[in-house]
Amino acid sequence: MSLTFTFDPPVTPDLRDGVLDLWTDVSNAGGSVGFVPPVTREDIRPELLKHLTGMAEGRTRLLVGRDAEGRVAATAFLALNTHRLMTHWLWLYTVMVHPRHQGRGYGRDLMSAAAAAARTVDGIEAVRLTCRGGLGLERFYESCGYKEVGRVPGAIRVAPGDDRDDVVLLLPLS
Ligand SMILES: CC(C)(COP(=O)(O)OP(=O)(O)OC[C@H]1O[C@@H](n2cnc3c(N)ncnc32)[C@H](O)[C@@H]1OP(=O)(O)O)[C@@H](O)C(=O)NCCC(=O)NCCS
Repeated sequence: MSLTFTFDPPVTPDLRDGVLDLWTDVSNAGGSVGFVPPVTREDIRPELLKHLTGMAEGRTRLLVGRDAEGRVAATAFLALNTHRLMTHWLWLYTVMVHPRHQGRGYGRDLMSAAAAAARTVDGIEAVRLTCRGGLGLERFYESCGYKEVGRVPGAIRVAPGDDRDDVVLLLPLS
């Protein structure tokens, strides 16, 4: 079994609800996607709205993976730069696979679909992302071809007294 990926899916209520549920479940399972548990859908909604606004303005594009039942099971948002000197690479945000599907290779499939999607975007030569240090995520991204190119010590405060590095990773597409 594998996920079915769609780049730039139509933004329907079903898609919005599916992404919201995914993001909430991943966050509550301890995923590093901008929140610390516990969170509700209402905590996540404003962040999703920011992505949706970016999509409406053509700055952000969504890659979504659906499982065999058609449920939203994985996402990655591809965000173009507005800085005129940085239009040759894009950001990858909110990379996640639903906890019920993790550990089966879907994460790697998602990253490979994200690289393929980025290659279809005019003028894009590299993909950049950041991740929370201390969880082994760097190893996951390195296994997908990314290289660590920077690390800001203690930039992410997940709780008082628990600071994590903000790790910058890059995938050249050439
Ligand atoms: C990170 C994530 C997308 C990986 O997806 P997945 O489907 O579980 O990963 P895969 O099954 O494709 O695993 C690929 C490899 O990465 C490793 N890996 C996966 N998640 C890992 C993690 N959190 N830390 C360390 N290694 C990890 C796997 O062990 C596997 O290695 P192997 O081939 O040597 O066995 C998924 O675990 C997830 O959504 N996590 C929560 C959200 C999150 O933290 N996202 C990252 C935002 S920066």
